[in-house]
Amino acid sequence: MPALGVGTNRWNASGPGQARLGDTLAAALDAGMGFFDTAEVYNAGRSELALGEAARADGRPVLMASKFAPLPYRVTAAQFASALDKTLERLGRDSLDLYYLHFPYSPLGVGAWMRAMASAVKAGKIRAVGISNCNVAQMRKAAGVLARYGLPLAANQVQYSLLHRKPETDGVLDACRQMDVALVAYRPIGGGAINSASPTGPGPSALADTLREVAAARGATAAQVALAWLLKRNDHVIPIPGTTRPEHVRENSAALTLELSEEEFTVIGRASAPTPAR
Ligand SMILES: NC(=O)c1ccc[n+]([C@@H]2O[C@H](COP(=O)([O-])OP(=O)(O)OC[C@H]3O[C@@H](n4cnc5c(N)ncnc54)[C@H](OP(=O)(O)O)[C@@H]3O)[C@@H](O)[C@H]2O)c1
Repeated sequence: MPALGVGTNRWNASGPGQARLGDTLAAALDAGMGFFDTAEVYNAGRSELALGEAARADGRPVLMASKFAPLPYRVTAAQFASALDKTLERLGRDSLDLYYLHFPYSPLGVGAWMRAMASAVKAGKIRAVGISNCNVAQMRKAAGVLARYGLPLAANQVQYSLLHRKPETDGVLDACRQMDVALVAYRPIGGGAINSASPTGPGPSALADTLREVAAARGATAAQVALAWLLKRNDHVIPIPGTTRPEHVRENSAALTLELSEEEFTVIGRASAPTPAR
């Protein structure tokens, strides 16, 4: 699994920009970030379509993750299987590298959906099982059910950035380390709020000033420094910055080789107040 992936929630197959999305995918593969995150609900399936089309056009192997949304009217294993088949069809694949339960709020609960996931692994339709937006109790529940089928819980995808450090205070980061589960970090650059390209940058704050100082000293951008900080925080953390632009993929990928010193890491951490658990 690459240490950094690409979020595709704004990819849209019906938009005019498919060629640019193809270039974005190619740039990610060139940079060693060939792990793409999508979901059936992103642009009503058109993110999956756009990703599938870009991957087909490129031809190189691509790791893909998508998500099942346990909407309130979805309560059967047949609905799960049908949603997965539609996702595979849109992506143009026979199997998916990682399939997440998008969120835990469901009349059925996390455990029942993990049984459906285990059936999909057995059927060869998914290679690994993840959950998203789950707390520690839900992680343990999911891992317990999967263990009965001899399967590991591969990932919990949660919001994590220097602007949102809740996984450090609600136990999720610790649980990921203890259980050897990847913490896939969504919104890792605060939805674009942390970046150097915007004239407003991350805003007038201690964090913004510190990121700018470290970035200037290292000849890097604030986004690169923020991603490098997450990568240094723990090796279970896999940030998936969302982008529709090859130049942003190239910029973000430089975080993979930007090794922050202990002092830089500490100073940035201090400037970003940890988010309370509740
Ligand atoms: N599991 C969940 O519930 C959940 C929820 C939200 C998101 N996600 C996933 O996580 C991914 C990432 O989250 P996100 O997209 O919301 O937030 P994000 O990655 O923090 O930020 C994405 C925004 O930053 C911009 N950007 C990217 N790289 C940049 C750079 N180097 N310089 C300046 N701007 C840059 C992007 O615009 P450009 O297109 O112009 O680059 C986009 O507007 C999503 O794509 C999605 O796959 C999952």
